[in-house]
Amino acid sequence: MNETEFLSSLARRSSDPAISWLMKLTLDQPDLISLAAGFTDNETLPVAEVGALTTELMRDDAAGRAALQYGSTAGDPELRKLTLERVCAQDGITPSAALTADDVVITNGSQQLLYLLSEVLCDPGDIVLVEDPTYFVYLGICEALGIEATPVRLEPDGISLDELKRTLQRLKDGGALSRLKFAYLVTYFQNPTGWTTSFEKKREAFAILRHYEAAAGHPIFVLEDAGYRDLRFTGPDTPSLKSLDPANERVAYSNTYTKPFATGIKVGYGVLPRPLVRHVLRSKGNHDFGSANFNQRLIALALRSGTYDRHLPKMQAGYRRRKELMGDALKKHFPSSAQWQEANGGLYFWPELPASHDTSRDGAIFRAALDAGVLYVPGDLCFASSPLRPKPKNCMRLSFGGTPSAQIEEGIKRLGAVLRTRGL
Ligand SMILES: Cc1ncc(COP(=O)(O)O)c(C=O)c1O
Repeated sequence: MNETEFLSSLARRSSDPAISWLMKLTLDQPDLISLAAGFTDNETLPVAEVGALTTELMRDDAAGRAALQYGSTAGDPELRKLTLERVCAQDGITPSAALTADDVVITNGSQQLLYLLSEVLCDPGDIVLVEDPTYFVYLGICEALGIEATPVRLEPDGISLDELKRTLQRLKDGGALSRLKFAYLVTYFQNPTGWTTSFEKKREAFAILRHYEAAAGHPIFVLEDAGYRDLRFTGPDTPSLKSLDPANERVAYSNTYTKPFATGIKVGYGVLPRPLVRHVLRSKGNHDFGSANFNQRLIALALRSGTYDRHLPKMQAGYRRRKELMGDALKKHFPSSAQWQEANGGLYFWPELPASHDTSRDGAIFRAALDAGVLYVPGDLCFASSPLRPKPKNCMRLSFGGTPSAQIEEGIKRLGAVLRTRGL
């Protein structure tokens, strides 16, 4: 029997997510220094705090039973309300008739929201604009759902507006604009580059997308992934693209309580344009009819009690330290022909090597790095396929999030040695 003849077209389109084999490599080789995982900092995980919150949640039978029972598909009402207030406070706006807690959907990490929205908006053959490079796990969703992820070059302050215009015009000229459903933009300390989109670029990109709606014949949404917004360790916050959508018509804002608090709790959320809420809830109803109620109540209590806000500066200080460790190690051990920028938040460095040096999974650098006991994310995984350019193969994503701080310099030192032996 042909191994795939019984599978759905979705399953046949799906290849092994890179995240699975990267995690497997880490687990198979326990002494490997992994600079690959987007794991969060083990050292600042709020163990004592979550212990106290759990005790409080279980303080009496009624409270405990409420937390241990199923919740609703949209999520815990208090968490939805607190989430909306938090997003509004960050953006200096106030909830309005157009933007209420009913527009907030709590999900199983923000990852689930990315999937649900893509499922609700796209048929196979539809188009989503993605940053070039982009969050590689999102490219796996596109692959499974048959979405054409169409790349638009990312610059240190956001996508190239010229390339955005050219891409939209090309789609229009080729009669493909009606297949374009949304743009997926990771606007804070982007994964993999660490770059943040400036407010000016958000405004202009949004205006450009709206300009093309008439030709598309339907709304072109934006999925703003702000998953790293709270992982800022220096500099002022930037208002969201969502704040440019006061009528709540076009921008789906996604964020998460995993990265800033505890990845293991896996609670994320979306603040969604009103016309999308019902459809996302239908789809979520089919997937799981609600995320873990206990975890949501725990996060709601963390927010209400101030535990969450007291934890943030500790977590941010932890990442700042790790970022400095990695930044210093890169300066010391990497060849000067490698280029990178230091981010003010997030989890990543994104060194770019001269174009002739291949960092991909099948390339000599990746294999030599594994032999030297160090793992990184090959940069080519983060680029969508495009007929207009070959995938760049000369970048690597290095995470300072999950690696024990004592191993960060050693990992970079080994990687630097690998690069030098390759003539860099
Ligand atoms: C850009 C981006 N978006 C979304 C996610 C999903 O995170 P979670 O499901 O833990 O909220 C991640 C995780 O690494 C990410 O890097």
